[in-house]
Amino acid sequence: MTTYKLFVLPGDGIGPEIMAEAEKIAAWLTSAGIVGFEIEQGLVGGAAYDVHGTAISDADMARAEAADAVLLAAVGGPKWDGVPYEVRPEAGLLRLRKDLALFANLRPAICYPALADASSLKREIIEGLDLMIVRELTGGVYFGEPKQIIDLGNGQKRAIDTQVYDTYEIERIGRVAFELARKRRNKVASSEKRNVMKSGVLWNEVITALHARDYPDVQLEHHLADSLGMQLVRRPKQFDVIVTDNLFGDMLSDVAAMLTGSLGMLPSASLGERNAKTGARKALYEPVHGSAPDIAGKGLANPIAMIGSLGMALRYSFDLNDVADRIDRAISGVLDKGLRTADIAGAGKETISTAQMGDAILAELQSSL
Ligand code: NAI
Ligand code: MG
Repeated sequence: MTTYKLFVLPGDGIGPEIMAEAEKIAAWLTSAGIVGFEIEQGLVGGAAYDVHGTAISDADMARAEAADAVLLAAVGGPKWDGVPYEVRPEAGLLRLRKDLALFANLRPAICYPALADASSLKREIIEGLDLMIVRELTGGVYFGEPKQIIDLGNGQKRAIDTQVYDTYEIERIGRVAFELARKRRNKVASSEKRNVMKSGVLWNEVITALHARDYPDVQLEHHLADSLGMQLVRRPKQFDVIVTDNLFGDMLSDVAAMLTGSLGMLPSASLGERNAKTGARKALYEPVHGSAPDIAGKGLANPIAMIGSLGMALRYSFDLNDVADRIDRAISGVLDKGLRTADIAGAGKETISTAQMGDAILAELQSSL
């Protein structure tokens, strides 16, 4: 059994509660001889600030660099509202993404049959939805220079943001999308605005050439980003993998996420470049949601996004698709049995706690062997 080094960052708020449930699953996978995990724990966000006065220590950054994968729960909350900007909890997350050079953000939107009625869309439009948004995370308008506000001196100011993409940045995110599609339904929808943006023209050109050269077996479509937004709400099941830039990806992934109902259900992965020799890549797995300070410490949080993030680590860092599939089926199975944390229960319905949900998923997983 290969052993993988997992660096675990529970963070603050509901973070420690949901991470405990993912760790339960990881510990069982190891004790059952299915996947070997060597788990180290560190501090991030408010939890790190309270101890070190910084959002993540250099020592923990080094452990994140050395790990095979990093699992993070959530950070942030009103308790740290007054702390200096550079050491606020969110700065820990940003440093991890930046120092590990995580350029590819993967956000699946899956509709579990048992929860199809939680969506704001009709059941027939949403049931069976399984799409993946691949968002470029380290380039584009969020980072391009110049980025400034200039005082024009006549009572007017001018704000400038710059969208910049180089060929290699588009190519490497394109590769992630095409490779994912090959393991799924073999379809990629690439999205930009080539009608009004030069970066869109280049994006389209590079993706088209990459496809012709290395991935002709994958079905490729191009959509203008605004039109894709409409299609996502109108007929979301037409999509398999969607690849897009940082800005459009930010918006489209939030839209896709909400198609499925609750925030507590949504995992994500952020991947770095593959090591040319070993094929290994840096990776961070985390729920899409935040630290939910309103329900922290009460055993109310839904651990499914966190457990799903562990599942994504198995799939995308360790190539253990069969084990990841089993985790997904265990989650689905528990939902089919009607077990619900408060966020997905609906008013007046019976609910279970964070730990009970973790236990139920573990039991379902054990019985699937
Ligand atoms: P949030 O995602 O923490 O919470 C939004 C709403 O969803 C709340 O009502 C919360 O109780 C609920 N919710 C979220 N996750 C849940 C779960 N697993 N189970 C049940 N209910 C859940 O977003 P909010 O309130 O805007 O932000 C709270 C803090 O989290 C802020 O400090 C924010 O900066 C931070 N944040 C951190 C993120 C991260 O760590 N990646 C991402 C988003 C926000
Ligand atoms: Mg967003």
